[in-house]
Amino acid sequence: MSRLAPHRSAPDFRPVLDRIAAEIDATPERGRPADYIPLLAEADPRRFGMAVAEPDGTVYGVGDWRRPFSAQSITKVFTLALVLSMDGERLWRRVGREPSGNPFNSLVQLEYENGVPRNPFINAGALVVTDRLQELTGDAVGRLREFMRAESGNAGLDFDPKVAASETAHGDRNAALAHFMASYGNITTPIPQLLDAYFRQCSIEASCADLALAAGFLARHGTRADGSALLSRSQAKQVNAVMLTCGTYDAAGDFAYRVGLPGKSGVGGGIIAVVPGHCTLCVWSPGLDRRGNSVAGVTALDRFTTLTGLSVF
Ligand code: DON
Repeated sequence: MSRLAPHRSAPDFRPVLDRIAAEIDATPERGRPADYIPLLAEADPRRFGMAVAEPDGTVYGVGDWRRPFSAQSITKVFTLALVLSMDGERLWRRVGREPSGNPFNSLVQLEYENGVPRNPFINAGALVVTDRLQELTGDAVGRLREFMRAESGNAGLDFDPKVAASETAHGDRNAALAHFMASYGNITTPIPQLLDAYFRQCSIEASCADLALAAGFLARHGTRADGSALLSRSQAKQVNAVMLTCGTYDAAGDFAYRVGLPGKSGVGGGIIAVVPGHCTLCVWSPGLDRRGNSVAGVTALDRFTTLTGLSVF
């Protein structure tokens, strides 16, 4: 297939998506669904969906692209954007923006870095961001849901209380991270309340279409679906940059090498990716590699950028 020039209109991506879906369908290696959250372990690794959203809100896709799944850590992009929109640079006193080179739920760097997490996308950093959103709004998850509903146009988008409860029951590591950071004064929300907000945040059910649309502000240089500004152009660049360097944890180097786009994964098997100025993508397949990224998802994004020639490089 010939390469597509940038700025092509929506229908031009459809043959690419069909081709990718056919290739994925013929690939037996799918990884394994996350099993540390028992409810996620039930997902079928053969499922696959992919959506592309254009900056004007046109969205289309292939496979299970309208089927809701557990957004998990993809929501960390939205909480980060909301906090930056309200708080600007102040957040960076409490969380860094360097890749961690460690698994998403690692504790090891926190002690010798004095309770300041490496970046906002590892769990420790996301807990700080949710804490800040709670400080700023008094209702972090309510604001997150409201934002994701507005951007996706899906008024029914919601938390899954069963997934949140499943995580709460297996939440010892996140509780440890939160308590440890509180000992350095880097968490102010009472820990049970913070964990409840964080687990509800992770449990948001959304489809590839919802998430590709909800991330659209990152392709529109910070502009929301209604035309208002969420972030400045510079802040949108910053979020995209942190996604590129930290969005897939200790696989961020490999993801940048293969896909060449800012991306953010979740253990539900979803990955969002951004082609600034052009489109946002979301792919879903529940089977994960050992670093917690969707096997078919990374392959599909790799194929998308290879076939279309679209990347930030
Ligand atoms: O904190 C957790 O363990 C999960 N709720 C979210 C983790 C996640 O999605 C990490 N991503 N790959």
